Formats: sequence, structure tokens, C-alpha cells
Amino acid sequence: MAVETVEIYWLPFSELLSFDIRILIPFLNRLEQNTFHSFKAFSKQREFLLGRVLLKSIISAKLRVCPKQIQFKKNKFGKLLLDEELHPVNNISFNLSHSNSILACAVMNGNDIGVDVEEIQFRYLNLMSKVFTQEETEYVLSFNNDARAHAFFEIWTKKEAYVKAIGHGLSIPLKSFSVPFGSQRYVGNDWGYYTINVYNNSLLTVAFRIQNNVSYKYQVKRLNLTDFLTVMEEPTSK
Ligand SMILES: CC(C)(COP(=O)(O)OP(=O)(O)OC[C@H]1O[C@@H](n2cnc3c(N)ncnc32)[C@H](O)[C@@H]1OP(=O)(O)O)[C@@H](O)C(=O)NCCC(=O)NCCS
Repeated sequence: MAVETVEIYWLPFSELLSFDIRILIPFLNRLEQNTFHSFKAFSKQREFLLGRVLLKSIISAKLRVCPKQIQFKKNKFGKLLLDEELHPVNNISFNLSHSNSILACAVMNGNDIGVDVEEIQFRYLNLMSKVFTQEETEYVLSFNNDARAHAFFEIWTKKEAYVKAIGHGLSIPLKSFSVPFGSQRYVGNDWGYYTINVYNNSLLTVAFRIQNNVSYKYQVKRLNLTDFLTVMEEPTSK
């Protein structure tokens, strides 16, 4: 049986407080630079720039090209994909997520991967009846206090990761499907889920479509400033 690795990379934005991220702007193409400059808030500029550079760095190493050669397009719901005209031979799936404090991405060989990272907060629990199935709601309500918020975000991140893996995002009503709960790792017939705690009180889930005769392992890497400085050392062409 073949083994595929689900690679998860995450970075607390606080790691880069002393780093002038504008040095990374040349890694963006003209259109991406326009998008970057269109954001008024520094936090939006930061998540956009670091997210694109992170993906370009990881994918370029797999395709053995330089990061600047990596070009994305979006599906009609906003999911980033590799531009297949420029990268015709590849089997790479990836997805990006950011919260206020964390940037995360997940990459693997195969089809359809989605990632979601969320800070665990109590204030969203009253949304439950609108977004969770009856069974999911009962699972969350079977816990008290902090464990209840944790259970809520376990399901929430699984659902978001799933709709992002499909690529349709929140155009799929979250209440219209259910996700497996109560396990950190789950590999079903069609979908796999992997959930981890990251940083201060945040949950990250990856959802991925299962392939026949493949087993899965997980590799989690917390990134730091050095990883971004390494990207800067990439040659402009290989
Ligand atoms: C995708 C979505 C679930 C993201 O939710 P979120 O928790 O706010 O955002 P996250 O931080 O987890 O993820 C953001 C990243 O997801 C990716 N993304 C965006 N839309 C996506 C989609 N449909 N499927 C998978 N990934 C998507 C992008 O890479 C985005 O980062 P970027 O803007 O820097 O490129 C939500 O924004 C959504 O459903 N958007 C689709 C809206 C839509 O249907 N638009 C139709 C065209 S108007």
C-alpha cells in the first residue's frame, strides 16, 4: 500500500514581529502585488504576503523550480490552485488558512485538501443550531466549559476544512452535511480528517479526499523567521 504524507505548516505571526515583511514583495507577481497594496490593514497585507510566499516556497521545492515561477489561479469560489497551463505536470494539492494570530497551510500529493485554523472562543457557540446537525450539537453540549468550546471548534474546523477541500467554501451550507467527531485522526471511506492544537488555544484541522490503497501519515512543522529568511536565499532561477 502506498503511503502519502499530509504536510502541515503553521506560523504564529508574532514570530515575525521584528522582520520587515516587505522584503518578500518581489516574490509576488504584478497582480499579487496590486492585491497586496489594495489591503488597507497591515494584518491583511501580512496574511496575504506571507501566505503566498509560504505556498510558493513549499511548492517550488516540490516542482524543482524557483518560487517566483509558481503561479496560482482561483476557482470560482476563491480556492487557490496551481495554474495548470504553467504547471501542467503536478499532483499537488494545497490550501491556506489564517486566523488573527496564525498562518497555516496544508500540502499533499493527491486530490482535494482543505485546512482551517481557528482560535477557540466562546462567543460563537450560539451559532450552533444554524451550522451543526442535531448529532453534532448534542456532542458539543455533552461537554462543559472549556471542553465545550474545544468540541465546538473541533467540529467547526472540520466542516470548514471539508468545504475548503471541496473548493466550494461556505456556498455549501455547513448544516447540510456532518463530519466525524471525537477523534484527532479519522480516515473514512471518502474523507480523512486530522486535528491538532496549535499555539495558544487554537485548533487546526486538515480534511483530505481518500485515495484507494493509500495510507496516510502526518508531518507538522511550526515555522519561524529562519524559514522565511531561507526563502530569500532561493536562487531566482534553477
Ligand atoms: C473559503 C472560506 C470558507 C474561508 O473562510 P475563512 O475562515 O474566512 O478563511 P481562512 O483563513 O480559513 O481561509 C482563507 C483562504 O482560503 C482560501 N480559499 C478561499 N476560498 C476558498 C474556497 N472556496 N475553497 C477553498 N479555499 C478557499 C484562500 O486561499 C484564502 O486565503 P487568501 O485569500 O489569502 O488566498 C470562505 O471565505 C468562503 O466560503 N468563501 C467563498 C465565498 C464564495 O463563495 N465566493 C464566491 C465568489 S463571490
